[in-house]
Amino acid sequence: MWTVKAIADTETYLVRHPVLRKGRPLESCAFSGDDLPTTLHLGGFYDQRLSAVATFLKQDNSEMNWTNAYQLRGMAVLSDYQGKGLGMRILKSGEEALIERKAEILWMNARLVAVPFYEKLGYQKKGTAFDIPGIGPHFIMFKRLAQ
Ligand SMILES: CC(C)(COP(=O)(O)OP(=O)(O)OC[C@H]1O[C@@H](n2cnc3c(N)ncnc32)[C@H](O)[C@@H]1OP(=O)(O)O)[C@@H](O)C(=O)NCCC(=O)NCCS
Repeated sequence: MWTVKAIADTETYLVRHPVLRKGRPLESCAFSGDDLPTTLHLGGFYDQRLSAVATFLKQDNSEMNWTNAYQLRGMAVLSDYQGKGLGMRILKSGEEALIERKAEILWMNARLVAVPFYEKLGYQKKGTAFDIPGIGPHFIMFKRLAQ
């Protein structure tokens, strides 16, 4: 049985580390802004095991002229649990929480491999691909949240 609920910033490392920072020190799992009071960390649990995480950081994007915006960071599902719909559920739960906060835009730096996942959920690419050193090519993607 899946459930999605708010978790603490350090709990996200349990999934960020094996999925997004494999082979790197645990400290590499800490993102700036993780501990801000406006930051929301969601965890997806399968039979009480934390299997997916997503972080929503209050962050405007002046280059894109996006205000009242949140950035999705550290979206990750443990490999054994990928492709079962949990990524979709946790992201939709985040969108609902942001709508309650009256946020207007959710955006992210999407890894190239994750672009089709975000497109399925209604996100659009903006601009051209760019490289994040050590991680690879990314696209900025965004969605206007329903008000
Ligand atoms: C990308 C990721 C978060 C998606 O979560 P998930 O739980 O595996 O995805 P879901 O099962 O909820 O998939 C939802 C839909 O997107 C599709 N999808 C998911 N990943 C996809 C991919 N890489 N390519 C194409 N489609 C994909 C699924 O087929 C599904 O479509 P359907 O409903 O038509 O079957 C997860 O696979 C992951 O953690 N990957 C490794 C880390 C990563 O790349 N994170 C993103 C950083 S920007």
